[in-house]
Amino acid sequence: MISGRNPRVRNPRSAAIPERWLTGLSPPVQPPSFFSVRRACHKIADMTAPGTLFRPFLRLVRITILGKEFEVPENNPLLRCFQYLAPEQVSYGRFCWNEDCQYCRVTFDLGEATPTRAAISCKLMVQNGMRINEVTAEIKYCLRTLEIGKAD
Ligand code: FES
Repeated sequence: MISGRNPRVRNPRSAAIPERWLTGLSPPVQPPSFFSVRRACHKIADMTAPGTLFRPFLRLVRITILGKEFEVPENNPLLRCFQYLAPEQVSYGRFCWNEDCQYCRVTFDLGEATPTRAAISCKLMVQNGMRINEVTAEIKYCLRTLEIGKAD
C-alpha cells in the first residue's frame, strides 16, 4: 500500500471523493421542512395532474355535421370538437393531430351563401354556425355513435 493514498480508489482522478462516501457513511440528513414538503407535493400534483384536453372555453357553439346539429366548445380545433362529441372513438382514431395524415380532412361552409372550403380539422378552429358537409371515412367511423349521415 502506498502511503497517503486510499487503497479503494483505483482512479487517481477520483481521489477527491470524500472518505465517508467510500465507507458508506452518508452525511447527516435534516428532516424536511413543512414548506419543502408542501412544495414537493405541489410539484408532484403538477406533474401527475392530466392536462386538460380542450382549450379554455366559456360557451358551446352550434355546428352541423352532415346535416345533424351539435354543440361543441368554442375556441377549439374542429377535430377536438369531434372528440368532445365522441371522446373514446376519436381518441383511438388514426389521427396524427399535426397536419401529416390528412385523415381529418373536411369540407365546410359558414352558412347559406358562403363558399365551401376544404380544411384539415386538426387545425381548423370551430366557428358558430359552421356546417361540415363532407368528412373522411376515418372521421365518419369515429363519429359513428352520433349517427351522422345516415341518409348516405
Ligand atoms: S389529424 Fe392528421 S392531418 Fe389532421
